[in-house]
Amino acid sequence: MRREVDKTKTPLISARNIKKYFNVKEGTLKAVDNISFDIYAGETFGLVGESGCGKSTTGRTITKLLEPTGGEMFFDGKDIFKVSQNELRQMRKDFQFIFQDPYASLDPRMTVEEIIAEPLEIYHMCKDSKEKQERVFELLRLVGLSEEHASRFPHEFSGGQRQRVGVARALAVKPKFIVCDEPISALDVSIQAQVINILIELQEKMNLTYLFIAHDLSMVKYISDRVGVMYLGNMMEVASSDELYANPLHPYTIALLSAIPIPDPKIQREKHRIILKGEVPSPIDPPDACPFADRCSKVQDICRQSKPEFIEVEKDHFVACHLVK
Ligand SMILES: Nc1ncnc2c1ncn2[C@@H]1O[C@H](COP(=O)(O)OP(=O)(O)O)[C@@H](O)[C@H]1O
Ligand SMILES: [Mg+2]
Repeated sequence: MRREVDKTKTPLISARNIKKYFNVKEGTLKAVDNISFDIYAGETFGLVGESGCGKSTTGRTITKLLEPTGGEMFFDGKDIFKVSQNELRQMRKDFQFIFQDPYASLDPRMTVEEIIAEPLEIYHMCKDSKEKQERVFELLRLVGLSEEHASRFPHEFSGGQRQRVGVARALAVKPKFIVCDEPISALDVSIQAQVINILIELQEKMNLTYLFIAHDLSMVKYISDRVGVMYLGNMMEVASSDELYANPLHPYTIALLSAIPIPDPKIQREKHRIILKGEVPSPIDPPDACPFADRCSKVQDICRQSKPEFIEVEKDHFVACHLVK
């Protein structure tokens, strides 16, 4: 059962018109082009879309690991694109990352204890080495590992255990917001649920807010309170998880959902799979048109003449499509 999030409160994250462009030799690559979304405290916002659509760039831009091209990013009411370097350094403690590939994100020459202790040292969170070690042990237990693991190196662990170390490291500084960038995509299916369950358990225990990035909708359904669907740098649809799966409005979302197998054979028979034709267009100097126009089965003239606005068509249900009113 998903938690009820109190939406009468101000969102913890309010991303407004976020843009991240890269200058490449062929022109301007619009990796993230004017997207907006809110994430409420204690909730998980799932961000999905095909590889290359701008999910990681979104995660890195809103935490200012990348310099934004435009937009406003309110964290707890404060625009982190505007604060001083000093203030940003302090705020950084509140947002942490869990990456897809625990092999690449953990330094192979460091012991697990050193890996988890590093952020504690950077932010001077412990008064002496004894307290630091205690804290590392506590974090290991929190993610289902034990003290004996502290002196080992990343290569001595399985993929799932390594991801647990990544989670412990992210939690060390007691963040409020965690960008989980495809944290289970590289893991065996049998291990994926374990890591997801740890993330959910920790979220409840520590009142964490997650941006959970995944490339397909089946992965985010279970963990997300609300979901955003991205395509070619644009946000196509945002709704609560239940609403999005029951009542998808954007033709792209409908196509993505049609590709997910449903365990009930009766439903599966009635459902027809929509195969997306064509290739994802280039994000370099895109035309002023719906980014999905070339692949949309419902495409009309207007879709090639202007880019649809992202509007709230039903309560808490946002869509960017000329054909949805
Ligand atoms: N540093 C960079 N320089 C140029 N282009 C980049 C850079 N980082 C990402 N991109 C491009 O931005 C787009 C979005 O990438 P990314 O955010 O990694 O997508 P996703 O995480 O959804 O797979 C892609 O076209 C990618 O090639
Ligand atoms: Mg990515």
